[in-house]
Amino acid sequence: LRILALHGPNLNLLGTREPGHYGTTTLADINQKLIDMGDSLGLEITTFQSNHEGELVDRIQQAVSDHIDGIVINPAAYTHTSVALRDALLATSIPFIEVHLSNIHRREEFRHRSMLVDAATGVVAGFGATSYTLALTGLNDFLRTNQQ
Ligand code: DQA
Repeated sequence: LRILALHGPNLNLLGTREPGHYGTTTLADINQKLIDMGDSLGLEITTFQSNHEGELVDRIQQAVSDHIDGIVINPAAYTHTSVALRDALLATSIPFIEVHLSNIHRREEFRHRSMLVDAATGVVAGFGATSYTLALTGLNDFLRTNQQ
């Protein structure tokens, strides 16, 4: 199975960015962990980060021609604003898991709303870098039991 891991704006700064909220693990570390986990689960992992909404939309559209089976996405700040990312994900109808390092529900009010979450297969938030590996475990189980 092919999995796309998408990372939104400012996540390229992980490691030094607000460590109180996001920890000290870098994005490269997170991606490597997903790739290693993918190896043991028989998943081919592709990773992509962008600070630009349109580039994330393009990558989601491309997932169809790339035969991606599932998406793990941390939309970062676009979580709270982006109709475009929502529409792109709905257009592909590829199952996706929404991921956040921080628990967005214990933070500012404006972070409580997600434009994507009601279309997601699942959501993981609040476990730091571990949120991603939990999401990949969940997505793997979901795809293997729902896609024979
Ligand atoms: C985030 C939470 C968002 O509110 C924030 O804008 C981010 C990161 C998280 O992973 O906790 O950039 O998605």
